[in-house]
Amino acid sequence: MAEQLGDLTRTHACGALRADDVGADVVLLGWVHRVRDLGGLLFVDVRDRGGVTQVVVGGDDEALMAKAKRLRSEYVVGVSGRVQRRSADTVNPKLATGEVEVVARHLAVLNEAKTPPFPIADETPVSEDVRLKYRYLDLRRPRLQANIGLRHRVTSAVRQYFDAHGFWEIETPILTKSTPEGARDYLVPSRVHPGEFFALPQSPQLFKQILMIAGMDRYVQICRCFRDEDLRADRQPEFTQVDVEMSFARPETVFGVIEPLMREIFASIEREIETPFSRMTYAAAMAAYGSDKPDLRCGMPIQDIRELFRESSFRVFREIVAGGGTVRGFVVKNAAGYSRSEVDGIVEQAKQLGATGLVWARRAADGAVTSSVMKALGEDQVRQMLEATGTGNGELLLVAAGEPEPTSKMLGQLRLALARQKGLLNPDEYAFTWVVDFPLLEWDPEERRYVSMHHPFTSPHDADLDRLEREPGSVRAKAYDLVLNGSEIGGGSIRIHDAALQSRIFSLLNISPEEAKLRFGFFLEALEYGTPPHGGIALGLDRIVAILAGESSIREVIPFPKTAAAVDLMSDAPSPVDPKQLKELHLK
Ligand code: AMO
Repeated sequence: MAEQLGDLTRTHACGALRADDVGADVVLLGWVHRVRDLGGLLFVDVRDRGGVTQVVVGGDDEALMAKAKRLRSEYVVGVSGRVQRRSADTVNPKLATGEVEVVARHLAVLNEAKTPPFPIADETPVSEDVRLKYRYLDLRRPRLQANIGLRHRVTSAVRQYFDAHGFWEIETPILTKSTPEGARDYLVPSRVHPGEFFALPQSPQLFKQILMIAGMDRYVQICRCFRDEDLRADRQPEFTQVDVEMSFARPETVFGVIEPLMREIFASIEREIETPFSRMTYAAAMAAYGSDKPDLRCGMPIQDIRELFRESSFRVFREIVAGGGTVRGFVVKNAAGYSRSEVDGIVEQAKQLGATGLVWARRAADGAVTSSVMKALGEDQVRQMLEATGTGNGELLLVAAGEPEPTSKMLGQLRLALARQKGLLNPDEYAFTWVVDFPLLEWDPEERRYVSMHHPFTSPHDADLDRLEREPGSVRAKAYDLVLNGSEIGGGSIRIHDAALQSRIFSLLNISPEEAKLRFGFFLEALEYGTPPHGGIALGLDRIVAILAGESSIREVIPFPKTAAAVDLMSDAPSPVDPKQLKELHLK
């Protein structure tokens, strides 16, 4: 039976007591983490958000002992007693409170608990589905408590930083109109307007731009965004952005705000990072890493060695180069120990990634040269290839040929897979980079038209404006992503503030004036009332916290995430609704 709290008042959190507290009378409130019954002596580990303290029940208070013997894991208790030093042989150096214990004088069982479906411990041998169904128990585990605490510290550092830099936190609507981020919308039917729907925001993009038109100058919001898209470890249907917009901004202005912010965020958990971050154009990132979110922790850039093969006797490569293709490769360091079958395995892996073939050449630790194309290419050319790419002793060169983009993409994936398999991605290193100058448009072969790479309000580069109609595919955007350890943690752009240019972009995108008016009319009208030049960015808060926590999925840093199938297993949403509700909403 549950006892009342009465006048039990917590004096210390369960992680707080130290040797200095010996002799103090304390009250702990928390959950029974573990009970060890040694007959005449009972050890009860009491746990709360702050940690665990060992409580000892012994002596001749029979009623107290009887009560303690009924305790089970996850019962809620209040304990009052005196702190004593543990005997030398029972000190637990792994526990912050491991030097002391509390000798219980009074025990209140504030609630009982059913036996939990899994132990409340960091190593939990259960499926994620069970964890998510009983998320309240999962969240009691120290690892998740630490993650949620970390998330709190990050959001408070973010709020403090923006406040100190003159940004106002401004809320934007959740019930709104479809926004232009390119994913599917979650729709909310209107009861009072039959057949009409709100859309949940994919981002506050248009509202934050309108706030600039409204003279708010510097806006920030820690906001939830909703996107009905395929889920992955780093994607949730509702996720949190740190959304930022500034008037009179150039890309540099935005970088100048975000880099010190990242420094503050890392400082809030006692880690130091260096600014300014490196910058890399989209074109350079694609060429050197086959990705617009390169993980720069492991080096190994992809190099272009096509010129070596223009006149080569190696027909396959020569013909590819003559046909406008490329030959590219990267060097794997510390590869002296790779066995022949391991190298064959890498070739196989490349084929699975879509390569028609992968050529390798290596220098053993003693400098001896071997290659998969020693015969076809001849030793001289193999050596040339190793020279040109700077492949040293004990290193392995991997080379592929073909169309430039797919070749780099394949090599980029292979590079990452190897880096992961070989443990080359130091989890304690933070490699930031800005990827800049994204193409404004990309060709959508299905729709047979250009679509915006970011969103249609992104400004083209001033220098590329005259190519807009002539060579739309070559126009660069004032758009940038912030990449950390191979993860896109933010993206933004300078916006179009000129209504005439905005119309030009819509016509390039094959969006008719009527359609533009229907979808974004309110915004296009606002643009004509004195819009300042402006730009901004949105950071993916979940991704940043996951990286800081060393978690590979953002689900581990979101209190109540959805599964990969976009359901909430705890509340069992989505779920069917009462036919009466459907009728009210004019839905069948
Ligand atoms: P974008 O769509 O690039 O830009 O989103 C910004 C950042 O949000 C994070 N993110 C996600 N995180 C978890 N789950 C998702 N489904 C998800 N989708 C995106 C990423 C991404 O970099 N309005 C623009 C920003 C702007 O132009 O200012 C926007 O939303 O870390």
